[in-house]
Amino acid sequence: MNRSRCNLTVRGPAAVDLTLEVNGLDRQVRMEPRATLLDTLRVQLALTGAKRVCDRGECGACTVLIDGEAVYACMTLAVECEGRSIVTIEGLAGEEKLHPIQQAFIETDALQCGFCTSGQILAAKALLDRNPHPTSDEIRRGVSGNLCRCGTYPKIFRAVERAADLLDRER
Ligand code: FES
Ligand code: FES
Repeated sequence: MNRSRCNLTVRGPAAVDLTLEVNGLDRQVRMEPRATLLDTLRVQLALTGAKRVCDRGECGACTVLIDGEAVYACMTLAVECEGRSIVTIEGLAGEEKLHPIQQAFIETDALQCGFCTSGQILAAKALLDRNPHPTSDEIRRGVSGNLCRCGTYPKIFRAVERAADLLDRER
């Protein structure tokens, strides 16, 4: 193989400097290229809303938005996220007002322990951004990557319906 034709840039294995756009701000971090986005958010940036539960892409507790898509942060390398827009639960609310989806989860009492809740809310946001009026089946599919060990599903589905109503009123 003629290596001079290869455009790949090798980074690491030692820690590298990265700039990540998180919740609208450029954040500087220094992580080994093998570091997951979840570790980077929680350990380097102290953004602990994304939870580590399974750490292997099964439960959705670590869900964040990347360029508007719901993504498992435990299955994503931080180094892959340069130049992309990352939103965590900490970036959803305004300074003085909850986001309508957060408001809907509270109004419908859609949580028990709350450990899955930030992931559920961000999965709901990705769904409602692409489909503002989902059917009940579409809601079930939209949050199907997010498990709730407390079994709060009926209220989570209701919360997403309520959030769609609240978002409609804001338009
Ligand atoms: S902690 Fe990432 S999917 Fe479970
Ligand atoms: S509210 Fe406890 S895991 Fe969902």
